[in-house]
Amino acid sequence: MNELNIVVDSAKAAFGQALTPADLENAKALYLGKSGRITELMKGMAALSVDEKKTLGAAINLAKQAIEAALNNRRQALADAELQAQLQAEALDVTLPGRQRGQGGLHPVSLTMERIEAIFGSMGFEVAQGPEIESDWFNFTALNTPEDHPARSMHDTFYVEGGSETAPNLLRTHTSPMQIRHAVQHVKRYRARLDAGQSMPEIRVIAPGRTYRVDSDATHSPMFHQCEGLWVGENVSFKDLKYVFTDLCRTFFESNDLVLRFRPSFFPFTEPSAEIDIQFQAGTLAGRWLEVAGSGQVHPNVIRNMGLDPEKYIGFAFGMGMDRLTMLRYGVNDLRLFFDGDIRFLSQFQ
Ligand code: PHE
Repeated sequence: MNELNIVVDSAKAAFGQALTPADLENAKALYLGKSGRITELMKGMAALSVDEKKTLGAAINLAKQAIEAALNNRRQALADAELQAQLQAEALDVTLPGRQRGQGGLHPVSLTMERIEAIFGSMGFEVAQGPEIESDWFNFTALNTPEDHPARSMHDTFYVEGGSETAPNLLRTHTSPMQIRHAVQHVKRYRARLDAGQSMPEIRVIAPGRTYRVDSDATHSPMFHQCEGLWVGENVSFKDLKYVFTDLCRTFFESNDLVLRFRPSFFPFTEPSAEIDIQFQAGTLAGRWLEVAGSGQVHPNVIRNMGLDPEKYIGFAFGMGMDRLTMLRYGVNDLRLFFDGDIRFLSQFQ
């Protein structure tokens, strides 16, 4: 009996030392295999009497069961350990934040453009777009600014050779060339009616876009944005300009007590001309006059260059600074921030 206990204990110890399933199977062979300790003990009973076989056989069976139980325990323990190791190795931290894609958004100046387009759209204006690389003709000459006109020097820009109507030679200094481009298209469409002495639908258009000048400081950038406006018909007056522009500014800034001032000025392509200043009644800018646009009644020479009779057609035009409007709306004091491309600044407008 004592010997059986020793065999069982040594089997348990051997199984305990097995660290892999293969080790365990080898250890099992030593006890339960064909020539293992238990099998040997069974064989040794052949010479015993029936009674002795009964008692010893029962004892050996108990020992065998104890060894098998120990074997199964150890198998299970090794399998559990293997599973744990695998789980550990393949562990997923489900509390980690997911991978995110940054959400894009519109540039603040684009937001301004969208607002301006929506406001003018509600007043029956269409939106036109024209080339940024423009010709001398559309940028200056057709706008009543001949080659040696001193007003050209205030619009210095980047030039290349060329300059005819069909050979663009400069980066446009304002969106005003769109007055001519759009009006000429419009007039062409209604030429037959005009020639028959009939009238044409009014020209009512805005033209937002990029413009260029040799200027650079906190409130000027060599590339900036303007929005041109043009309304030409048989009976359009300065009063309409005042109404349209006041409505625009009050809607854009969401401020009904905003005050506008039309300050006499000069542009070769308008006569009379006015600079438009606005004044907020509340907020940090309250009380100050802030210039937002140039404007005026379209000059007869410009009406003529549109292909229309200045005796019959009259209208107004304006050109406003979109970057300026954006700065005022959001309280930004350095224009350059808009064009640095710093996402920390730009994402504040989303
Ligand atoms: N084009 C002018 C500028 O850039 C503004 C303007 C537009 C003035 C239309 C009058 C009429 O300064």
